[in-house]
Amino acid sequence: MSNTSFNEQRLHDLLGRAIVDFGATSNAPLVLIGDRLGLYRALAKLGPLNAAGLAAATGTQERYVREWLNAQAASGYVDYLADSGSYRLSTEQAMVFADEDSPAFIVGGFETALAAGRIVDKLTDAFKTGAGIGWHEHDHALFHGVARFFRAGYLGNLVAQWIPALDGVQARLEAGISVADIGCGHGISTILMAQAFPNSRFVGFDYHAESVEIARQRAREAGIAHRCQFEVGSAKDFGQSPFDLITIFDALHDMGDPAGAASYILKRLAPGGTWMIVEPYAGDRIEENLNPIGRAYYAASTLMCTPCSLSQEVGLALGAQAGEARLRAVVTGAGFGTFRRAAHSPVNLVFEARA
Ligand SMILES: C[S@@+](CC[C@H](N)C(=O)[O-])C[C@H]1O[C@@H](n2cnc3c(N)ncnc32)[C@H](O)[C@@H]1O
Repeated sequence: MSNTSFNEQRLHDLLGRAIVDFGATSNAPLVLIGDRLGLYRALAKLGPLNAAGLAAATGTQERYVREWLNAQAASGYVDYLADSGSYRLSTEQAMVFADEDSPAFIVGGFETALAAGRIVDKLTDAFKTGAGIGWHEHDHALFHGVARFFRAGYLGNLVAQWIPALDGVQARLEAGISVADIGCGHGISTILMAQAFPNSRFVGFDYHAESVEIARQRAREAGIAHRCQFEVGSAKDFGQSPFDLITIFDALHDMGDPAGAASYILKRLAPGGTWMIVEPYAGDRIEENLNPIGRAYYAASTLMCTPCSLSQEVGLALGAQAGEARLRAVVTGAGFGTFRRAAHSPVNLVFEARA
């Protein structure tokens, strides 16, 4: 090493980026603490506040809260008002950290990353053995984090943008059709659609029984359990009746055999039916994905999606950055006659497939 020449500026820049990331990694648990204790929400509602004021409003200890606030201010997640020694959340900071119903709410992403990291020992071994790690093998916090993370994007896009972009689907949903949502997790997408289209009937399927139970509970809480049901079922073995619309939200690439799932979906679609496929945003070439979104998704894919797929039959392991061309090959290879990109958001691609 001592004889190796290096570019001082490049080293400086790289180290700078790594320090930003090291700081971000250390801050991630603090984001969860702020969320759990209502610190962001209190600051959004009552701010500006000093540490003592925020601690009093949230039933927490001032010394801890002061240190937390300074970490937040150094992260740019909270503003520090030096003249008064108080802290506040801007409208944008509140949208990202305090408002669960904002399309920009990101706390679920931090929750997911931290929970996924808990399999580091098992995953290290899996790198050597090639073994898969099933979705159900993760810490419970992962399922909640993923549901919260995706909810933000679905809230802003699913009913307002994505369904209208499909050919004739909105009118059929309004009239009343039968819908299956495969790999539904906690049923976020299923319930959003059921709430928007009261004449249609929805069934969410997921192989993970614990997630299905939570989805059922959410449907009961939303008062729609009579027409929005959830069943344990895999993508190659769900329901028997034909469905007019089948959806898969951010789950096709997690499956071991997405081509087998596509063939089965083709059989379960009613004549004239539509398969809506929502996948993480990605370009077809690696170099198109070397950006902040690709970075987050390649990492999530290494921690969750790729091991999940490898744990199932076939183990195709498309990865979360599969991109349109690979997805098209899977879907049309299974016999679908049409496959087109209908919409996209900064984090998702939306495809429509028909027999
Ligand atoms: C990333 S999560 C997405 C969950 C949900 N669609 C959402 O958007 O919030 C992937 C889901 O796919 C499910 N899954 C994975 N392989 C599956 C399979 N072969 N059949 C059915 N579900 C599967 C997992 O249990 C998990 O709930």
